Amino acid sequence: MDEMVKIVGWDYLMMMREKQIMDDDEVVLVIREYDVERDKLRVQEMERRCEVGPTPAEGQMSLFTDDLGDPICRIRHSPAFLMLVAEMEIGAEKEIVGLIRGCIKTVTCGKKLSRNGKIGNRNDTYINKFVPVYTKLAYILGLRVSSSHRRMGIGLKLVTRMEYWFRENGAEYSYMATEKDNEASVKLFTERCGYSKFRTPSILVQPVFAHRVRIPKRVKIFKLSTSDAEKLYYRRFSTTEFFPRDINSILNNRLNLGTFVAVPSGTYFTGSWPGSDQFLANPPESWTILSVWNTKEVFMLEVRGASRTRRALAKTTRLMDRAFPWLGIPSVPEVFRPFGSHFLYGLGGEGPESVKLMKALCGFAHNLAKECGCGVVATEVSGCEPLRLGIPHWKRLSCAEDLWCIKRLGEDYDGSVGDWTRSPPGTSIFVDPREV
Ligand SMILES: CC(C)(COP(=O)(O)OP(=O)(O)OC[C@H]1O[C@@H](n2cnc3c(N)ncnc32)[C@H](O)[C@@H]1OP(=O)(O)O)[C@@H](O)C(=O)NCCC(=O)NCCS
Repeated sequence: MDEMVKIVGWDYLMMMREKQIMDDDEVVLVIREYDVERDKLRVQEMERRCEVGPTPAEGQMSLFTDDLGDPICRIRHSPAFLMLVAEMEIGAEKEIVGLIRGCIKTVTCGKKLSRNGKIGNRNDTYINKFVPVYTKLAYILGLRVSSSHRRMGIGLKLVTRMEYWFRENGAEYSYMATEKDNEASVKLFTERCGYSKFRTPSILVQPVFAHRVRIPKRVKIFKLSTSDAEKLYYRRFSTTEFFPRDINSILNNRLNLGTFVAVPSGTYFTGSWPGSDQFLANPPESWTILSVWNTKEVFMLEVRGASRTRRALAKTTRLMDRAFPWLGIPSVPEVFRPFGSHFLYGLGGEGPESVKLMKALCGFAHNLAKECGCGVVATEVSGCEPLRLGIPHWKRLSCAEDLWCIKRLGEDYDGSVGDWTRSPPGTSIFVDPREV
């Protein structure tokens, strides 16, 4: 860009227009809300061409995502969401050169002591228990600028404009997630937008084999009703960082495939689930819980750039696994053409047997994913999650440190936990499946 002529600023349509002169042509950059009728095909075309993260070297594999024809698929289930496009006008020609998505929800950012719990009938005896402190949190995702228009300030303008919408809607913090070696993204957010590095959870990915995983007889797995799941999550996990206050809308979403609890066999005499009230009143010594989200309906993945030899090897393991399922061969699924996945969220539990119980629950989730024709099962947990030892995953498919950066949007409020951006991480986090 040669010469900046005029920044028109936000107009009454909350649209940002900026005029510049480039090679004697007047160039107008407009940042406005995504319009499905007008933009859908052009957005898809731009995303197809857009590389995310470092360009893969010759012969290196990369992961391609197909949004199944819905550019807002990753935000549409959130309580409030917005997608913006950056459109460049040169004469009569208009081209979409950038995109950003954002959503806002209320989550737990800390906990505080409550002195309301009464023990038995003794009205004068109180127990201290923790209750969640909620905040309105915004999330930025799917930021893209077309390769030919990078380093022109478009990414920065998209973030600035999105944050304007966040503030207008009362968000107190904004955060984003990126690969830690995505230099462009990390620098844009930390050096130019005022974000700081916050949490580094791990994305754990397990392939779906051709054989079923065996669930040990000493483990009993129950499927919970939505209302029982909601009760259990609110009562046991609402103080976990990032716990979404609208957990009920997640559990009632059609993409939610169910919530499952594992306990040692024989825990319940009748062999049936006692209901969350009874379970919570007298929980077994060890138990675990997780929920399954059907990401296969949201997007498909594909591994590209694999050599012929690698593909042939993968196929051989698959054929062997299919032919001799009792051997339990850890075969590579069909990841070289589009495949779906399930996301495990709301993982938790306690007790000396909890790691083994979590392993059994993950095996159960694996078998569910196999029945649904998925290629992988994924989850995201805190770096210091004690149950991660029970989550089977392949290191090569996983990401040990996903980088989350955060920014405080307002200064004129005083949350009960102070400045969340400075708080130390907890042992667990609750990852919202809607934003995967
Ligand atoms: C990340 C991305 C959106 C940046 O968009 P952009 O329009 O090129 O960014 P800007 O021109 O607004 O850059 C603003 C600042 O970000 C930083 N930055 C941007 N690209 C950078 C790069 N390649 N290397 C180092 N810093 C970079 C710089 O600090 C830059 O300021 P400067 O140009 O004054 O030095 C773009 O590179 C992209 O689409 N990447 C692929 C998709 C992706 O990784 N998205 C992020 C996932 S959250």
